[in-house]
Amino acid sequence: MYFPLYRPRRLRKSEALRRMVRETKLSPDDFIYPLFIVHGRKVRHEIKSMPGIAQLSIDLAVREAEAACKLNIPAVILFGIPEKKDPKGTEAYSPRGIIQQAIRTLKRELPDLVVITDVCLCEYTSHGHCGVVVDGEVHNDATLALLAKMALSHAEAGVDLVAPSDMMDGRVKAIRDLLDRKGFENTPILSYAAKHASVFYGPFREAAESTPQFGDRKSYQMDPANAREALREVRLDVQEGADIIMVKPALPYLDIIRKVREEIDLPVGAYNVSGEYSMIKAAAQRGWIDGEGAMMEVLTAIKRAGADLIITYFAKEAARFLEKNRSGC
Ligand code: PBG
Repeated sequence: MYFPLYRPRRLRKSEALRRMVRETKLSPDDFIYPLFIVHGRKVRHEIKSMPGIAQLSIDLAVREAEAACKLNIPAVILFGIPEKKDPKGTEAYSPRGIIQQAIRTLKRELPDLVVITDVCLCEYTSHGHCGVVVDGEVHNDATLALLAKMALSHAEAGVDLVAPSDMMDGRVKAIRDLLDRKGFENTPILSYAAKHASVFYGPFREAAESTPQFGDRKSYQMDPANAREALREVRLDVQEGADIIMVKPALPYLDIIRKVREEIDLPVGAYNVSGEYSMIKAAAQRGWIDGEGAMMEVLTAIKRAGADLIITYFAKEAARFLEKNRSGC
């Protein structure tokens, strides 16, 4: 079909027509809302580089989660800031740890909300790396047992889903094995399968206080240049027992989301990371971009690329936008 017989503009004439032929539609069901949890009561520390996002004590996190629930967002993902850090990240797997307490309270107060936890040591270690450091290097196999222990402590506290983000080899299997042995065979694993060593995590590290104290994460997180390797990482995690696999970051990695979507039949997640959020916020604050428009366009693009689930700091704002703009006939 060619012009003038075919005129693509015919179906763009009105918003109602455009809605009828729209291929990708966002819904609050797509979103997972991240929360940063700190010790104390009534604590709210705004994150300077992430306007609208704050570290929250458990009491305030419950209120924030409730607000997300009311907007029909089905899930939150928790990151913890411990009281004390040490080389082995002890608080990460302590039954009295900040996240273990947060899980118990959230599940008690909001039983229908899906509570996901990030499983990684970097917020808990004094050196800020995602694993145990031996002779100046992040030791893969020594880290596996600690990650599994951390995931188990979350499961024991009642978490709905664990999400390992450390990028150690074999961690999905290590976690799956221990969970199964301890009777948590029904706790799913959302694996950060293709996680790249990205500068876009910068603002998150302010929020989670998890900047590495020496070196960088390039010996465990993936090279941003690699897409074939991303698929290999994803296949490995599927073989090891992941239930949902994730690509991270999202916006600069849409090609990888698409490839994973085409090859894997598990649900695919994408992490719209802190830097992606902060860029839009910063430009919008200066009046350089329409922040709401950019938010919706980016989230739509991530879904169009193939993501079923999107972890995003925009979750509440985007859900509010969708509610406000719900159209009649
Ligand atoms: C923990 C972790 C990080 C993020 C999620 N889990 C940081 C990192 O790997 O340095 C980043 C999320 C974001 O930037 O929003 N390892």
